Amino acid sequence: MIVKTLSLKNFRNHAYLTYDFSPKLNILTGPNAAGKTNVAEAIYFLSLARSFRANEETDLIQKGKDKAEINAVCEEGDLKRKIRIIITPEGKQIFINGKTISKISELSNVMNVLLFEPKDVLMFRGSPKTRRNFLDINLCKKSQPYLDYISRYNKVLKERNDLLKSDKVDPILLETTTEMLAKLSGPIVSYRQMYVKDINDILIKITRALTGEEGRLEIIYQPFIEYGKDFQKEALEAFKKSEERDLRQKMTTIGVHREDFSISLNGRDIGEFGSQGENRIVSLALKLSPYFLIEDKDKRPVVVLDDVMSELDQAHRIRLIKFVKKLEQVFITATKLEVEGAAQYQIKK
Ligand SMILES: Nc1ncnc2c1ncn2[C@@H]1O[C@H](COP(=O)(O)OP(=O)(O)OP(=O)(O)O)[C@@H](O)[C@H]1O
Ligand SMILES: [Mg+2]
Repeated sequence: MIVKTLSLKNFRNHAYLTYDFSPKLNILTGPNAAGKTNVAEAIYFLSLARSFRANEETDLIQKGKDKAEINAVCEEGDLKRKIRIIITPEGKQIFINGKTISKISELSNVMNVLLFEPKDVLMFRGSPKTRRNFLDINLCKKSQPYLDYISRYNKVLKERNDLLKSDKVDPILLETTTEMLAKLSGPIVSYRQMYVKDINDILIKITRALTGEEGRLEIIYQPFIEYGKDFQKEALEAFKKSEERDLRQKMTTIGVHREDFSISLNGRDIGEFGSQGENRIVSLALKLSPYFLIEDKDKRPVVVLDDVMSELDQAHRIRLIKFVKKLEQVFITATKLEVEGAAQYQIKK
């Protein structure tokens, strides 16, 4: 997939901006606060109708204006589609080829964006939620059944948590919701285990390309129960065992919604022992890994790397550029960067 053209109207600091992009490498440069990340944000918005950094969607609307617009022509092989997004304080409207869409997944099918942002570097040091979200977002994009399982799980989890918060907990309701959670956990853990295994194979190759070194890198996923033939029984036992604590703390304290994974480089946890540069390269490799799980070249995601070069030394920069040149469409933002053969765009304040 590629973004052929993009035009922004009253989006953040851009009153009006229009671009015709290269299907390969695009470099967006400009001074601090020029609005480079804002362009990256707009491209990302095309895939999930969600910002990766705004707390309030109205922040996307230029100060003093009443609506923001993103218009793009996206291509998938010979297929051309127009995406139009209008954001107002009352909400947003999304059109594909002039038709309103009802589900975000319709948008993700047309445009898939992999984003690296500076705060991803902190991924291995931050809360488990960040890492879980990474797994979930990518698995949901890849597998409709997973999306269904996780949505159902979250619904039942909310029911159970509401129940635990009530003054008098109905034991029968508690048992049925617990059984449902145990049942839905099996496929979720199984999908996560398979996905992590697939990612591990790729991760090692990407990291080698980016570092030039033969490091042993692997994701270690810690499911609350290993997936196996007795999973449901074991999960149920684990839920029962923590029931007392759940009642005391008024929430479900174990389960797939609490799981985590870590990454180890040569046997050492990257979050604890990795240097800043190592954290950057490994988080970048991880963010890029889903790209290689998509076999159909036309369906491969657009890669957006916001401010990826800072903190990398010259040798790593050269390797990274060499690596991204082999991908399909890529956007890199930087205050200063020139790459031979790439399309360069100057963003002015
Ligand atoms: N709703 C808005 N209306 C007007 N301006 C906005 C709005 N939201 C953000 N801005 C402005 O956009 C600018 C920041 O843009 P952005 O973060 O894209 O810069 P950048 O080019 O990525 O800079 P850096 O190199 O520092 O990362 C800020 O000056 C900010 O005030
Ligand atoms: Mg920026």
